[in-house]
Amino acid sequence: MIRVLVPRECRPGETRVAATPETVRRLAARGCTFVVERGAGQASGYDDAAYEEAGAALTDPSAEQWSQADVVLTVQGSDLAQKHSPKAGALLLGLLEPHGNDALKQRFQSAQVSALALELLPRISRAQSMDVLSSQANIAGYKAVLLASAALDRYVPMLMTAAGTIQPARALILGAGVAGLQALATARRLGSVAYVSDVRPAAKEQVESLGGRFIDPPELDQKPGEAGGYAKQATEAFLAEQRRQLTEQLALADMVICTAQVPGKKAPRLIDDAMLQHMRPGSVVVDLAVAQGGNCEGTVPGQTVIRHGVQLIGGDGLPCSVANHASALYARNIAALLELLLNTTAEGASSVNLDLDDEIVSGCLFSHNAPESAGGAA
Ligand code: NAI
Repeated sequence: MIRVLVPRECRPGETRVAATPETVRRLAARGCTFVVERGAGQASGYDDAAYEEAGAALTDPSAEQWSQADVVLTVQGSDLAQKHSPKAGALLLGLLEPHGNDALKQRFQSAQVSALALELLPRISRAQSMDVLSSQANIAGYKAVLLASAALDRYVPMLMTAAGTIQPARALILGAGVAGLQALATARRLGSVAYVSDVRPAAKEQVESLGGRFIDPPELDQKPGEAGGYAKQATEAFLAEQRRQLTEQLALADMVICTAQVPGKKAPRLIDDAMLQHMRPGSVVVDLAVAQGGNCEGTVPGQTVIRHGVQLIGGDGLPCSVANHASALYARNIAALLELLLNTTAEGASSVNLDLDDEIVSGCLFSHNAPESAGGAA
């Protein structure tokens, strides 16, 4: 049997959990036994009793449990790994902030722990069911529009009333990846008119199919281009031209949802202070890229600040505000990835195998240390 530990998350504000009673049952059928730290699912609506009913054993957080687990399922794995170390040969799965996190990599390697960083999962069809970045970005895009709508001093839909007609709110969405497309769909459902900017040519068709109006990127030689479906980092000259182009759009916008990112790099600066001065007082900017430096000047993670009469909402960690569904989806993603790694015999015995020839495994492999035999985990 594979012994799987589900710790209580320790990052302040983290409300999600890496396994739900549903995924505990699902993985138990594949030969896993679960040990869940008491209160692990409390902030996301999954109580201890539900885990027990699903067959998990409850435990208090302790170094001993970490030293017995073959597999540890985490959300904020880098934070948890600062406090506890899995045993040699164990496998840890979670968000590990892998870009430039050499200290954590060394820590895992010297402890002979294997780790998969979910941020590095390849964006290929076969990995869609495991794609934590997508499931969580989807939630963030949805919630960003709800926050903007609630903060806005206007209606969102067009309304015809006895006192006259109210025009629909105008949304401007920067970045048409997973979060941006969900923001577009949500803004359209609420009745707004939505304009969307992205630098990837493929985004145009996706935006238009959701009823958005695409803003073509500036016609410059040094367009950022893309690699593996992601945008490449734009030059400062390109961004300056893009800001010039967006100034007019911003002046017309009621709500702006910023989602533009380049993996492992500082987020592109698309709105500066001078541009905010052209915006209508009362309008709202929600910046989902705030933790990566922000698309908009002046946004602060987790806070709302007012600049030139515009509310700037630092939309950091929004999936944590939809904790039940965010956990349900995260847990299914991580269960699908673990299922890929499990070898189950006809008798129900399981072992974990990290097949480095599989591009999903090699793509998100953050640390690989496999002593000869280590309690079933590779
Ligand atoms: P992301 O979070 O890295 O970036 C968000 C968006 O910002 C991207 O669309 C990017 O092009 C855009 N962006 C970057 N610089 C910009 C700038 N200067 N101005 C305007 N927009 C800018 O991307 P995300 O959401 O993680 O998705 C990346 C890609 O992966 C997309 O092509 C998406 O369709 C694809 N994808 C594929 C999946 C699959 O096949 N399994 C699953 C999920 C996503």
